[in-house]
Amino acid sequence: MEQQIEEQSLYERIGGATALTALLDRFYDLVYAHERIRRLFTGDKELIKHKQQLFLTQFLGGPAAYTEAYGHPRMRARHMPHQISQEDAMGWLECMAGAIKELPITEALKDELFDRFPRTAFFMVNS
Ligand code: HEM
Repeated sequence: MEQQIEEQSLYERIGGATALTALLDRFYDLVYAHERIRRLFTGDKELIKHKQQLFLTQFLGGPAAYTEAYGHPRMRARHMPHQISQEDAMGWLECMAGAIKELPITEALKDELFDRFPRTAFFMVNS
């Protein structure tokens, strides 16, 4: 009974690790091909995909996987070495929207998931 009342995390509701992996495969394909923001992504694609998988796991309410592996997220500070403009944030969000669109989840859940990102993305703007 209790468990039915308890709210599941967004991480669980979108389909957990399997769903995140599918999302990020698509997302980074779009990012590394994006005319405006691909210039920023010079590092190893598999490594950043892995880090983002751990980060989004905890960002969406799952286990604290990123913190366990890499310490406190400090996401704004970690983005400081990269010059990120408002337009870059919009490019990033465009890629995320494109990747979310392909997930096999309801439209309502897609909207709920996408809504988690704009605030954080614009918080990364530093130039
Ligand atoms: C606003 C637009 C954004 C841009 C242009 C951007 C760009 C970047 C770049 C260039 C890196 C380094 C990649 C590399 O090592 O080659 C990075 C790392 C990362 N980004 Fe972003 N990012 C943005 C927004 C976000 C958002 C919204 C999140 C989370 C929701 C995020 C999470 C991460 C994570 C987890 C890493 C890996 C950090 C680490 O080194 O441990 N980024 N990002």
